[in-house]
Amino acid sequence: MTTTPLKGRKILLGITGGIAAYKAAELVRLLKKEGADVRVAMTEAAAHFVTPVTLQALSGAAVWTDLWDSRVADGMGHIELSRDREIILVAPASADFMAKLAHGLADDLLSTLCLARRCPLMLAPAMNVEMWQNPATQRNVAALYEDDVLFAGPAAGDQACGETGLGRMEDPADILEELEAFFQPKRLAGKRIVVTAGPTEEPVDPVRMLTNASSGKMGYAVARAAREAGAEVTLVSGPVALPTPPGVSRVNVRTAAEMFEAVKKSAKSCDVFISVAAVADYRVKNPSGQKLKKANGKDLSLQLEENPDILAWVASLPKAPFCVGFAAESEKLLQNAKEKRARKKVPLLAANLAQDGLGGEDNAIVLLDERGEHDLGRGPKIELARKLLEHVAGMLKG
Ligand code: C5P
Repeated sequence: MTTTPLKGRKILLGITGGIAAYKAAELVRLLKKEGADVRVAMTEAAAHFVTPVTLQALSGAAVWTDLWDSRVADGMGHIELSRDREIILVAPASADFMAKLAHGLADDLLSTLCLARRCPLMLAPAMNVEMWQNPATQRNVAALYEDDVLFAGPAAGDQACGETGLGRMEDPADILEELEAFFQPKRLAGKRIVVTAGPTEEPVDPVRMLTNASSGKMGYAVARAAREAGAEVTLVSGPVALPTPPGVSRVNVRTAAEMFEAVKKSAKSCDVFISVAAVADYRVKNPSGQKLKKANGKDLSLQLEENPDILAWVASLPKAPFCVGFAAESEKLLQNAKEKRARKKVPLLAANLAQDGLGGEDNAIVLLDERGEHDLGRGPKIELARKLLEHVAGMLKG
């Protein structure tokens, strides 16, 4: 099961002069593979790095470089070429091009198309780290943010010039993800959503702990999908090695008790609470202040006490937000999940087999609500997360 949110989407891809221009060819290939309708406009400088013929072959359409091109019927290329487009994406966007945009300059086809546009504009900046960090560039970035221009990247890493740092163009696959996010329906605009994700760690001593196997990937996908759907998202996260999804505000916690405190602060004023975290059911009653020593062949006992059930607490608030629970079961999936939904008193529960989702990129989910079962099937976690949020939006409306 793979959905293609870019199928048929009308995108104008602008390419400006920088070594990353060669990656625009790959971007066009990926966009075409997703079924997008891509029209390419290049600056003169971009054509020094990659030829219009390459882009024409990949996009399967004429490539535009000249403000005075007579191919547009009424000679209004600077307006016509963007009018049927849903977004202009400039990748790579050079420092010089961003400076022009920030000041409303329009001295070539692409800058004129941007100035005359009616659709949103997204930039994937690409430049040397010093150019990116230069206060002049940062002033321009701030001005463009103010003007509601969207950004994909830049990324950090090795640069073509031999230096290292922020300024690399985002990988084409990541830019594709940003576009997919842009095209998601904003069904949850104006809603505040709190998501918990990842495991919790319960200390035994300063270097040992009890924890659950959880990569946090499902919870992070849910946070990302909620943000894509237009919600204001707070992600309360246990210790995981994942980047924060764009536009999401993240609160890092370690123990279940810390997660509970963070949730108490944010969940009372939210519209939806989605509990994806694999919270440890128990914590060590008296964790040792010093590293425990081996007891020469004798058994070691740890006394455990129960952690609070965060989801059940939120669901029982007098003005509880709409609560969604996750149940990872190792057997009798539906039976256990149904019992859990009733016990925790949540309107919606997402059930999956632990062995299906653990650590990987894919999962298989069945939703349970008052109407019964809804099988979301198997697929990438982000696609399941989008379906889950769509279901939530439908229930909120109902
Ligand atoms: O009871 P169980 O851990 O299987 O329930 C899973 C659901 O309850 C998940 O949504 C999980 O995030 C939540 N939970 C919680 N606090 C706990 C234990 C589980 O919020 N202490």
